[in-house]
Amino acid sequence: MTKPLLRALAGETLPVPPVWMMRQAGRYLPEYRATRERAGDFLSLCYNPELATEVTLQPIRRFGFDAAILFADILLVPQALGADLWFVTGEGPRLSTVTGAADFARLKPAAEVHETLAPIYRTVRNLAGALPPEVALIGFAGAPWTVATYMIAGRGTPDQGPAHRLIAEDRATFEALIDVLTAATIEYLSAQVGAGAEVVKIFDSWAGSLRGEDFARYAVAPARTITAALKARHPGLPVIAFPRQAEQGYVGFHAATGADCVAVDDSVDAEWVARNVQPDGCVQGNLASRHMVSGGPALDAEVRRIRDALSGGPHVFNLGHGITPDADPDNVARMIATLRENG
Ligand code: CP3
Repeated sequence: MTKPLLRALAGETLPVPPVWMMRQAGRYLPEYRATRERAGDFLSLCYNPELATEVTLQPIRRFGFDAAILFADILLVPQALGADLWFVTGEGPRLSTVTGAADFARLKPAAEVHETLAPIYRTVRNLAGALPPEVALIGFAGAPWTVATYMIAGRGTPDQGPAHRLIAEDRATFEALIDVLTAATIEYLSAQVGAGAEVVKIFDSWAGSLRGEDFARYAVAPARTITAALKARHPGLPVIAFPRQAEQGYVGFHAATGADCVAVDDSVDAEWVARNVQPDGCVQGNLASRHMVSGGPALDAEVRRIRDALSGGPHVFNLGHGITPDADPDNVARMIATLRENG
């Protein structure tokens, strides 16, 4: 096992941490914008295996990352369960809503997601045959809670208010939705691994709005169920969990879920992560995305600070969240060069 990403996920402390970036294929790259134009729109790009393969490879060719992440979206799973999904330019995703038992009853069973998602598996298969030998292939899905927040509200929300209201008013329907998403996510990720994904990542972007018992029930428990099912079907599969903005919830998340790596956002200090999270296993993160816009010596200093703070254990270098469309590609190259200096 020589790929640096797989070594770090297996618990090895490497002299230079492997690096990739959330949303590394995206609008900050002119070649991405050109390919999306050819596809017509974002969803057509996701479901076009040739073009989705091409945009996944673009940042690998340009920057030499240690990992490629499948180009797709977390909201394809609700669509595969029968929800309507569309993207409003400049605003974000829109979905048909699930606000009660009647809406829930119209969703398909988890085992039926493969029909819609088959093109995604073809993209994974293409990628598995196209990547340079040292580059690892990451598959992904949204965590049930984060995906549920979009399905319940029909869009992104600043505080996930509609989902919290459904928990308060109709917990049975909410929990049925979490359960079908958990089952669908296992199906989807398992099929990605079958097609050639070597690692999977579970994005719980809105985990930070779950507190106390709700965090345990709706962030920790589904991640544990998904991780256990995937590892039973695919022994040795490394899993990265990203309970974004979990703060104290990051502590013990490896042990509570069985994840091999916990990705952390930039609201926590790398030094704090080294003391409180990294003793339990590999960590991923956590450069603030704004440095990809501003660059300069402050970028170099932050890269070195995070690298050094986490150099005592297994670490995958990444941003704390996705790169933004206003980022300068030269700053990405600069981040990687600084990370690998003297390496
Ligand atoms: O990281 C990668 O390069 C792989 C591809 C990927 C995308 N979305 C492509 C995308 C991944 C891993 C995601 C995950 C995703 N999608 C998350 C979890 C991570 C996070 O950012 O918190 C979430 C919440 C979504 C849902 C989603 N997709 C939203 C809210 C939006 C609109 C906001 C935005 O950035 O425009 C998207 C669209 C989206 N997904 C784009 C890309 C490249 C931009 C679409 C475009 O090209 O216009």
